[in-house]
Amino acid sequence: MKVLLSDGSGLTARQCATRLAAAGHAVEVLTPDPLCLCRFTRHVTRLHRVPPYGPDPFGWLDAALEVYRSGRFDVLFPTQEQVAVLSQAESRLDAAGVATVVPPLSALSALQDKISAAATLRRLAIPQPETATAIEGWGRFPAFVKDPIGTASGGVRRVTNRAELERSSAGRTVLVQATVDGPLAMCQSVFDRGSLVAFHANERTGEGAGGGASHKRSISLPEVRRCFEILGRDLGWHGALSADVIMGDAGPFFIDVNPRLVEPNNAYLSGVDLVGSLMELATGGHPATQPDARTGVATHQLLLAVLGAAQHGRGRRGVLAEVVHAASRSRGYRRSVEELTPLAHDLRSVVPVATATAATVVAPGSWSWFAAGSVSNYALSSQGWSAILHAEPSASSGRPGPIPGARRQSRRQPS
Ligand SMILES: Nc1ncnc2c1ncn2[C@@H]1O[C@H](COP(=O)(O)OP(=O)(O)O)[C@@H](O)[C@H]1O
Ligand SMILES: [Mg+2]
Repeated sequence: MKVLLSDGSGLTARQCATRLAAAGHAVEVLTPDPLCLCRFTRHVTRLHRVPPYGPDPFGWLDAALEVYRSGRFDVLFPTQEQVAVLSQAESRLDAAGVATVVPPLSALSALQDKISAAATLRRLAIPQPETATAIEGWGRFPAFVKDPIGTASGGVRRVTNRAELERSSAGRTVLVQATVDGPLAMCQSVFDRGSLVAFHANERTGEGAGGGASHKRSISLPEVRRCFEILGRDLGWHGALSADVIMGDAGPFFIDVNPRLVEPNNAYLSGVDLVGSLMELATGGHPATQPDARTGVATHQLLLAVLGAAQHGRGRRGVLAEVVHAASRSRGYRRSVEELTPLAHDLRSVVPVATATAATVVAPGSWSWFAAGSVSNYALSSQGWSAILHAEPSASSGRPGPIPGARRQSRRQPS
């Protein structure tokens, strides 16, 4: 099939490209950035320039639908926060014959911003750290102060005392969250109209740039899986749903919910094919529920490790050490598989890692250029989210009509 990824910059998009190409699909991507991560792989055959998503989701949508129509794609595969505008425009997509997979907007609104997500978790008695939206009376430090809309740690600040808390929340609406100590698990799932069909959890065993995982290991978290089932059933979730969970002494705590797919390759290598289930849903099928993943499967993303070494002050030596250990498969790279830029039959994928290494060796501070550049291409801004929430049910430029011959997908209403 001919698949159009909603983003070409992010780690998730790059991982999806590997997966989809391996499954025999032709993959092209939407991106404002001609030098995005997905440019550097033979798994993506073409880049289509679109306006940046964050500042103007509807401008992005118009351009995306035009590419989909003129390129006669079979599936528009959401890999990032574009899910939000696609969910808002579901009836417009239906009318245009676009095959995709997104949750209903009512479900998305319950989780997209961190304040709504905290309220939803509370309502469903899903464990989360103590949280507040008013800072008066907050006495637990250190704490995390989070902007309602933000990703890749861009809107999260750690504060250690009252003065820092006041400074970091002055003049804004924020969520304050108590710190939980323990390892972080990144959990992912796929739902078919409220029923869970795939679930995976991996522990972050190495922290890369921007709070991302340079190293992961698959783990079994049946309690967390049950929480996902409760959440997805209650909201009638459809498509991908992810969360960051800290395994504290008192059990798992949900610290962040991401209403979209996140980095699917550790799951795949552990036996859970999230992308495959999403493709089935996008084309109108009902995927079988996948069995539990194998545990102990280790994967890494050298690009994040290199940028993380620079960000965390480990300097040139730290950066070069990552590359040396990866090349010699020693330390954290022993028995671990590269999940972001595998080199097998894809030499081009060495370019981002080599460029990031060279840049951070010369100027360690350049890590932020690599990290920040891609986030702004796919992340929702708070203005963008507000535009989506306040738009008419099917905000339309009126441009795209039905695509002749395009497959219509049947959509049931969420229960
Ligand atoms: N309550 C918390 N306790 C401990 N660490 C936290 C907590 N909240 C956030 N963090 C740390 O900050 C990172 C970013 O926070 P998160 O809420 O996941 O924001 P983002 O939406 O940017 O991913 C997390 O991956 C974790 O390392
Ligand atoms: Mg997070």
